[in-house]
Amino acid sequence: MTSTVGRRFAAQNALGYDARIVNLVPGYAELHEISAAVLAARLPERARVLVVGAGTGTETLALAQANPGWDLVGVDPSEDMLAVARRRADAASLDVAFHQGYVADLDDGESFDAAVSLLVMHFVAGDDAKGDYLRAIAARLRSGAPLLLCDLMEHDEDDLDVIAEYAAARGVQAEALAGIRQRLATDFHPLADDGLRALGAATGFGPPRPYFRGVSFVANELRRA
Ligand SMILES: C[S@@+](CC[C@H](N)C(=O)[O-])C[C@H]1O[C@@H](n2cnc3c(N)ncnc32)[C@H](O)[C@@H]1O
Repeated sequence: MTSTVGRRFAAQNALGYDARIVNLVPGYAELHEISAAVLAARLPERARVLVVGAGTGTETLALAQANPGWDLVGVDPSEDMLAVARRRADAASLDVAFHQGYVADLDDGESFDAAVSLLVMHFVAGDDAKGDYLRAIAARLRSGAPLLLCDLMEHDEDDLDVIAEYAAARGVQAEALAGIRQRLATDFHPLADDGLRALGAATGFGPPRPYFRGVSFVANELRRA
């Protein structure tokens, strides 16, 4: 992970993440709810689900809670984010596995019925690195398995104005907004729709099927070929 992105998910930033993210990503709660509905529509009672960039555990824990027959495995390079996730799992008495590191660090033999990557791949810079990211996930999915992928996609200043107004309406101060806008330009590496389609095809996935959008944060379902 690059150092700016590493800092973003370290220490105090990890502790404040859950309160902060709902103000910064329009439709954050709905994204998670609809992603859970997509998985529920696709998977049987017993299934293995890989959560990439599990962070503080929000989707991993919600999926485990709603689907007691599913085996949830969360992966994230930030030990500070995972510390929050582990505390939340303990508090809710949920039996989920969190691994500190990257998908490529998991055993090649691991096989999953679905994967979720919410608000993660936009931090991966460049098509080559994004390709490696998707290939590592594809290698651990059975054929036909869905990958739910949500990232900040290609956008313009008009979209950023809307995201800024959304955050302001939720109480984010003007000074913080300027910093957020700056980081959206430097730390995020958005793809265009065509770029995602091409990258998916090159890494073992079928065409993206959009299922949710909050301004420029777009969620797609891709099927493992
Ligand atoms: C914005 S948070 C999203 C967390 C969670 N998915 C959510 O929706 O709240 C991004 C997370 O991705 C992690 N991350 C960054 N690069 C990653 C990578 N290459 N592989 C896996 N996780 C990564 C960060 O450490 C961070 O916890």
